[in-house]
Amino acid sequence: PASSVKVWNENSSSKNLIPRLQKVRNNYLSMNKYNVTYRGKRNAVKVNSEKLLCQLRDKVNVTMIQGLDSPFNTSEWHNYLPRKKLSDATGRLGRCAVVSSAGSLKSSHLGPEIDGHDAVLRFNGAPTKGFQQDVGEKTTIRLVNSQLVTVEEHNFLTESLYNTGILIVWDPAPYHAEIHEWYRKLDYNFLETYKKYRSQHPEQLFYILNPKMEWELWDILQENSLEDIQPNPPSSGMLGIIIMMTICDEVNVYEFIPSKRQTDICHYYQKFHDHACTMGAYHPLMFEKNLVKYLNQGTDYNIYAHGKVTLPGFRNLRC
Ligand code: C5P
Repeated sequence: PASSVKVWNENSSSKNLIPRLQKVRNNYLSMNKYNVTYRGKRNAVKVNSEKLLCQLRDKVNVTMIQGLDSPFNTSEWHNYLPRKKLSDATGRLGRCAVVSSAGSLKSSHLGPEIDGHDAVLRFNGAPTKGFQQDVGEKTTIRLVNSQLVTVEEHNFLTESLYNTGILIVWDPAPYHAEIHEWYRKLDYNFLETYKKYRSQHPEQLFYILNPKMEWELWDILQENSLEDIQPNPPSSGMLGIIIMMTICDEVNVYEFIPSKRQTDICHYYQKFHDHACTMGAYHPLMFEKNLVKYLNQGTDYNIYAHGKVTLPGFRNLRC
């Protein structure tokens, strides 16, 4: 019965983490690499989920770097950056799927359900070939981090996996930095590879995420958590969920909140084990999951059986 299934506790706290991950969180808190100085509220009592959704819609600006954004407003950059807005490129999307890369997707048989959506977002190097039964084969958007693009062993320029769908790359910025400051202090200098890729695949849309969004979203995560969250940008997973909420009517997220198949296997396409992949180390992932679980409009049974969370698109909110 639906009432007895055990799923993610949306009030998970750092006390629920294994000692190693508690230490990692503490280390990131004292390191404060991005110079986070949070001065906003901290809600001791949860705000209702409709209000929280409206806050996300109104405070998190999802935009891509455009040719008008200094220092990208040069004729050189003008030729590299896509001219079309993302929302114009995709058109108005109905039902969208966000597919986390979690190991719990293994043996899920979610492929046909995922492919039944109007658009599918995947992350980083997550493959479909050989895994269609569990993760489907449609890729509309792929969100990649700047490390994957930059570090040569990931073969970003040669791996054919990256040649389908719309690409979006993101890179961590200093806390609430302007594009200028970020440009001078990129976490990974991905821009040369970006240009190379664009020259090799001029027809494929490839956006650079405006880093503003990272910390606007982080502030909302912090505001709605009872303790200090890691002062590092949200995970690709959380960024992708918000991107899809801005362009879709409905977003189904798979295995971000773990199902009954929860496992320490990090990715469905690798053998590597690490509890941190599910609970977070660098990213405030546990707090992201608390928020997403809280906002779920589907049932706990759908989480338990399919790792499936249903979120509304921002355009369907009445704020
Ligand atoms: O590892 P990677 O960042 O490529 O995975 C994509 C996203 O999927 C992560 O940013 C995270 O949000 C989510 N994920 C997860 N649990 C895992 C692996 C990934 O929630 N075990």
